[in-house]
Amino acid sequence: MMLTTEPLRWGGALLLSAGYLALCLRIWHTRRAANGKDTPADWLVAYASQTGNAEYLARRSAETLVTGGLQARAICISRLDDATLAGATNILFVASTYGEGDAPDTAARFAGRLMAKGADSHHLAHLHYAVLALGDDNYINYCGFGRALDAWLASQGATRLFERIDVDKNSAAALAEWQHHVGRLAGTFDAPDWEAPAYGEWRIGERLLLNPGSAGAPLYRLSLVPAGGPLPAWEAGDLAQVSPPADPDHPREYSIASLPQEGRLELLVRLQRREDGTPGAASGWLCEGAATGIDDGDLVHLRLRAHERFRLGANARRPLIAIGNGSGLAGLRALLKARIHAGEHANWLLFGERQIRHDFLLREELLGWQDAGWLQRLDLAFSRDPDSTGGADGVDRRGADRRYVQHLLREQAAQVTEWIAGGAAIYVCGSLQGMAGGVHDALTEILGSTVLEQLVADGRYRRDVY
Ligand SMILES: Cc1cc2nc3c(=O)[nH]c(=O)nc-3n(C[C@H](O)[C@H](O)[C@H](O)COP(=O)(O)OP(=O)(O)OC[C@H]3O[C@@H](n4cnc5c(N)ncnc54)[C@H](O)[C@@H]3O)c2cc1C
Ligand SMILES: Cc1cc2nc3c(=O)[nH]c(=O)nc-3n(C[C@H](O)[C@H](O)[C@H](O)COP(=O)(O)O)c2cc1C
Repeated sequence: MMLTTEPLRWGGALLLSAGYLALCLRIWHTRRAANGKDTPADWLVAYASQTGNAEYLARRSAETLVTGGLQARAICISRLDDATLAGATNILFVASTYGEGDAPDTAARFAGRLMAKGADSHHLAHLHYAVLALGDDNYINYCGFGRALDAWLASQGATRLFERIDVDKNSAAALAEWQHHVGRLAGTFDAPDWEAPAYGEWRIGERLLLNPGSAGAPLYRLSLVPAGGPLPAWEAGDLAQVSPPADPDHPREYSIASLPQEGRLELLVRLQRREDGTPGAASGWLCEGAATGIDDGDLVHLRLRAHERFRLGANARRPLIAIGNGSGLAGLRALLKARIHAGEHANWLLFGERQIRHDFLLREELLGWQDAGWLQRLDLAFSRDPDSTGGADGVDRRGADRRYVQHLLREQAAQVTEWIAGGAAIYVCGSLQGMAGGVHDALTEILGSTVLEQLVADGRYRRDVY
């Protein structure tokens, strides 16, 4: 289905060329910056982070080093190039792992370019390093990227300051071990513990099933309010962590769907079922277990987590291409709502689900935004509909020819190129399996890998995928 309200005013061949020229200049400039523009501190703490854990720990580590009188700063691994590596003598790496043992998005270029260098070149013989590898041992490739990074650094002749520390699901013991090592390097043992923020008590005021009759699992819109005290602040793109009563030490992340100005914290939660039919620990509690009610509902332990990489940030005034599926609409809705609050009209949503009849989530709101001109383009792919374009060509496409958001992107390739040339940023939210990879491949085809890499480096291609 393709619903377009008004043509893009800022289109046109001249602007298109100017946009591309600007992007090419930017690529050239970034590469030129490889010649050592950043004077390295004595110590760098480089983070490879997707949703902010590694970044948080890198910043705390740098602070500890500074407390000990060392000159140290935390930097994103995307800013570590040949020149920075050649000039640095001590680097602590804090690296998470994504996908199936992959590097986080911000580290993709580092992994692809630098780590592709053959072993035993000894060009890092001057470097001392340590690696804190974040991961989750439910994944087959546990701490895969941190391990690969550690092995690569050693193969380039760099010297370990101490053995790599692997952290399973933010294990407090592993983090304390790292903190002890960093304290020793800094010569300070009295640095305060890096405690995670405490959970607050919330109640579910309202729980609404968004997809009655769906062939997929039920998806609920939950509206939460603090059990006491004021609503805390957050920004579009941020996450809520819920500690489920059945598994309190392992919080689950949810993208926040609302803005504080709306007076409530909304989540879109898919009820997960395990193979034996039992509901997921957190989604089961949120969607079925917890009693609702602002005054007398069950207490939900929840804390907010800033997700810097998925906020609008420097993209606030750029056109927005929002792409997602299923519960991924949560993060995209918050971003779009923030854009509307800020009076920004250049918004394009590409969204995929199963059937238009049951799964057109937030239908009234999205169509209302489109009618009011807040969504300049709205493209929908319903993969299980006979004609998933939403048209009526009578062709039964069930089976092999299912259409997803990545197909919409390919069909709209010219517009995607035009929007990017016009300065747009791309935000992707939803399934890692299937959607995020398919979208990434389609964008690579349309824009080329160099441009896409540059968009990542410039923070114009951001993902919150799970
Ligand atoms: C950044 C981020 C944002 C997210 N945003 C959202 C969102 O907006 N909406 C949303 O619905 N979800 C979101 N998620 C997913 C969410 O965090 C949870 O993973 C999801 O709700 C499932 O958690 P659960 O506790 O219900 O299920 P779990 O109990 O963790 O089970 C989940 C699955 O894991 C397997 N599993 C786990 N434990 C066992 C076991 N003991 N035996 C057998 N199988 C097991 C099963 O396959 C099961 O289906 C997000 C995740 C991330 C990382
Ligand atoms: C979609 C997804 C995929 C993940 N894949 C892996 C993996 O393959 N191996 C692993 O050890 N951890 C994996 N993790 C766990 C993360 O590495 C871990 O949660 C880490 O603390 C995230 O840190 P960050 O917020 O800095 O990105 C994955 C997490 C998510 C959400």
